[in-house]
Amino acid sequence: MTMCGIIGKAGDGNVIPDIINGLKKLEYRGYDSAGIAVLGENGYSSVKTAGKVDALSEAVTACRCAPGDTGIGHTRWATHGAPTDRNAHPHFSPDGKFSVVHNGIIENASELKKSVLPEDEVYASETDTGVAAHLLAFYYQGDVIEAVSKTVNALKGSFALGILCSDCPETLFAAACASPLFAAKGQSGTFIASDMGAVGEDAKEIYKLTNREIARLTKDGIAFFDADGKPIVKNTVSVQVGRLSLEKGGFEHYMLYEIMQQPDAVRDTILPLIKDGHIIRHEGFPEREFVRERLNKIRIIACGSAYHTGLVAASLIEQYCGVDCRAEVASEFRYSAALIDENTLTVFISQSGETADTLAALRLAKEKGAKTLAIVNIEGSAIATESDAVVFTRAGRETAVATTKAYSAQLAVLYALTLYLAREKGTVTEEQEGAYTAELLRLPEKIRLTTETVSETVTELAAMLAKKEDMFFIGRLLDSAAAMEGSLKMKEISYINSQAYAAGELKHGTISLVEEGTPVIALATQEDVFTKTVANLYEVKARGAYTILITEEKFLNREFAADKVIAVPDTADPFAVSLAVVPMQLLSYYTAKNRGCDIDKPKNLAKSVTVE
Ligand code: F6R
Repeated sequence: MTMCGIIGKAGDGNVIPDIINGLKKLEYRGYDSAGIAVLGENGYSSVKTAGKVDALSEAVTACRCAPGDTGIGHTRWATHGAPTDRNAHPHFSPDGKFSVVHNGIIENASELKKSVLPEDEVYASETDTGVAAHLLAFYYQGDVIEAVSKTVNALKGSFALGILCSDCPETLFAAACASPLFAAKGQSGTFIASDMGAVGEDAKEIYKLTNREIARLTKDGIAFFDADGKPIVKNTVSVQVGRLSLEKGGFEHYMLYEIMQQPDAVRDTILPLIKDGHIIRHEGFPEREFVRERLNKIRIIACGSAYHTGLVAASLIEQYCGVDCRAEVASEFRYSAALIDENTLTVFISQSGETADTLAALRLAKEKGAKTLAIVNIEGSAIATESDAVVFTRAGRETAVATTKAYSAQLAVLYALTLYLAREKGTVTEEQEGAYTAELLRLPEKIRLTTETVSETVTELAAMLAKKEDMFFIGRLLDSAAAMEGSLKMKEISYINSQAYAAGELKHGTISLVEEGTPVIALATQEDVFTKTVANLYEVKARGAYTILITEEKFLNREFAADKVIAVPDTADPFAVSLAVVPMQLLSYYTAKNRGCDIDKPKNLAKSVTVE
């Protein structure tokens, strides 16, 4: 069972460098183990290693892997079966003819072992993918397309498969169902990949494989077949996802590069939503009539950081639009009673557009007849495609596993949505909406300014935080939602145990963990609750905490109990968390750097979580 990225090439000459290079770009999908198989003059060469693609690349060089004209590669995020060399893909059929790389979940693997495949079959790995390799050999009677067709019809679940057969050394085969897989023609050959960004500029004509469709690729062209193996004609797709780049804009890590790209991400995202100083009814936003006459409930559903943007928006929408709005974790929502109906607007937020739980929650919402809106960064992704309506964030490619610029771009769309709903509901006047929109337009520049003004204090503090093993982030209302994001950033990349709390909740138990020198980072950007949060900061300071306050310049003349203050530029209350998050991102970045962590690829994680 794997989440993972796959790539394949049918070319002329040595395909190994292109496959390794593509795998490096696909590592955002998982980096527990990697492997390749190529077919050359003397049959197969295959190398598999636990660990990252760099380790695979070294192993390929060390064993002087023979070149080949066709090849497949895989980078894995392990779910079932440890990330060992043995469980790394490609997997081979028992007769050694077929090799397979797979992204997805074959749900009936055990059933197929019992009911279809011979009883005495010996499996070389603990993975479900092995079963696909065994099935191919089982069904093969000289026609690979027929064997692939029978195999894909036997499989249940989701899969994107890259397949080689030693009887056809110059041909690459592929098939997909509910897991992303693209095929493309390029100048140096033809390709398959989970994400064509991995192939780069060479991919010219791009096709998407769905519904168990099969592709047969040679260096000169691609033929497509339906699930029954009948030839079909497919149209190209436009995949404006940006190329996956290994460039970091001169920065040491993608994460820092992407933090610095936030002003552009926010600007590019909001400009298409604004005209003549006002938020427009973007085609993705619900119709005016629905908002005015029917809308009585909003549910924002997402995972991780995307869920945190939902928490900010839920608070804002209730306050500014007077509509019942809650943010829900997708993995919970999909199994909940989900009290939604045709008068509910459900909003699904996802950078990748492929997160399994968010996608399942979207399908549930559609079943219940709710209106669905997706806020997604990747065009052509499953969530963008399946939702009734979509607004794209324009953050560009995000490569660091810990999201930063996509988070900021998601918030920007949610601000625009809130203002649109508030205007249509009549809870703000057009003039007030115009004033907020003007401030929203100033936000990108203020984010840029924040990266500059906080940098000295942040680097100084990070040196101290790097030596700690526990810390807390607290805040109220919007600041509480942003504190959750700050805390997640810190723990996921620095591995420091960090917890976020609604500031007023700390004293109901958790404050017992505060000791001499425990860092407590308080966010206080909201006028109405500023003094309340500061009061909570006094409480932890009295118990020995090292207190850090993140606030706006306009509050600096107030009284507070902070050992260190980080001030961000002034803005309107609804947008302040977009500035406050920047020092928290930078604090986690520099803290992790001081601890020598693998910042762009934190342990145990993957960028795109395509399994439940
Ligand atoms: C944390 C992070 C994750 C993602 C989450 C949802 O830095 O990046 O928590 O936000 O896995 O992913 P998407 O947005 O792709 O649905």
